[in-house]
Amino acid sequence: YRAVDLIRRKRDGQPLEPDEIAWMVRAHETGAATDYHWAAMLMAILWRGMNPTETAALTRAMIDSGSVLTWDDLDAPPIDKHSTGGVGDKTSLILGPIAAACGVPVPMVSGRGLGHTGGTLDKLEAIPGVRVALSTEEFRRLVRRHRLALIGQTDEIAPADRWMYALRDATATVESIPLITASILSKKFAEGIDGLVLDVKTGDGAFMATLEDSRALAESLIVSGRALGKRVVALVTRMDQPLGRQVGNAHEVAEAIACLKGDGPNDLTDLSLELAAEMICLGGVEPNLDSARRRAQGALEDGSALEVFRRVIADQGGDPRVIDQPEAILPRPRGHVLIAADPSTLPATGGFVAAIACRRLALAIMRLGAGRALTTDRIDHAVGLELFKKVGDPVAPGEPLARLDHTLEPNDPRLVHAHRELTACWSFAPLPIPNPPSLIVTRL
Ligand code: URA
Repeated sequence: YRAVDLIRRKRDGQPLEPDEIAWMVRAHETGAATDYHWAAMLMAILWRGMNPTETAALTRAMIDSGSVLTWDDLDAPPIDKHSTGGVGDKTSLILGPIAAACGVPVPMVSGRGLGHTGGTLDKLEAIPGVRVALSTEEFRRLVRRHRLALIGQTDEIAPADRWMYALRDATATVESIPLITASILSKKFAEGIDGLVLDVKTGDGAFMATLEDSRALAESLIVSGRALGKRVVALVTRMDQPLGRQVGNAHEVAEAIACLKGDGPNDLTDLSLELAAEMICLGGVEPNLDSARRRAQGALEDGSALEVFRRVIADQGGDPRVIDQPEAILPRPRGHVLIAADPSTLPATGGFVAAIACRRLALAIMRLGAGRALTTDRIDHAVGLELFKKVGDPVAPGEPLARLDHTLEPNDPRLVHAHRELTACWSFAPLPIPNPPSLIVTRL
């Protein structure tokens, strides 16, 4: 093949054959398809799309650019979960231990936060001592011992995704459903899992803001995943306000631990249990969702999920006392600022939270160190926000909406800016919303 011929075909809207796609990915390694060929190909794919066969072939080629872990010595098929990312989404830290406690091996390879979204690895690293860069051997050992380990990308996991994502980022071609599908699935399937539960977020705080796009991404992930012989389920869930009440790295670890102790907020607990139940079902540990839900609930109630988390943290080098005394062990902020309603937006007699601008909220605390604008930025794990008021909650004039925890000097101008930004995130209505939409929009 020649790269230019394949680009021309895609440019003209004709589908590529699986062999051609596989060649094009391999050719990036050999130099027969350079970055400029791929830049053009990515733009052609963005405009022309890919059919499910092409998307599955691209996923396969990206998986084959590295190596795939094998798990023949486990007592049940390994299953993982992927979320397309959001604000306050710490479900991995909760459902991983739940699924593992229920007998499902979870070899979880996670990512870092970028822009307004957080990442599981950054959250875990808020726990002093935790290592996420484990060797493959160590990863295997931990998954065998605890049925759970949480690590970062390695050089062998879908290396084609790394150069391709960098090119997409530089050529404005990230927003393509087939490219997103192949990127997500290649990294997850290289873990050697049998099944995958997808949490596709929708709303202002999600990667895909509209329900139509989120549903299309969920469908694409399901079709391509199944074409590659995997068991795949997707939930489309709302991300139009933060999940739970804590946003920030140490903050989210503390909330995940509270949730594992049965003290979590309802939205976070319910979603974590539902996703864990899907994993338990996919893993064949329980025959149906109802029994899987009961089993997941049981692992929360009897403390077995919490124990799994404690042991995994300890074996990954973290301080296990974080489970019993999170405030004493997790990094602490230097000061805090309360956020109250802007009197010009709240009715004089009080009102109800109508919406929370989730992306804007996350960007405001990202700029104080809770997240990264660039992949090279360092995280300040102590920075975060506790929300006192979520959508539907009543608010009296002057009542605090949230507490911003920071590590700046009290007179730092960035604090004034963050305060203004955060205040603007809440909007109010005189009456409560009649039928608040459910967190889980649909299941595919
Ligand atoms: N997440 C990924 O891993 N890849 C994408 O392309 C988009 C989101």
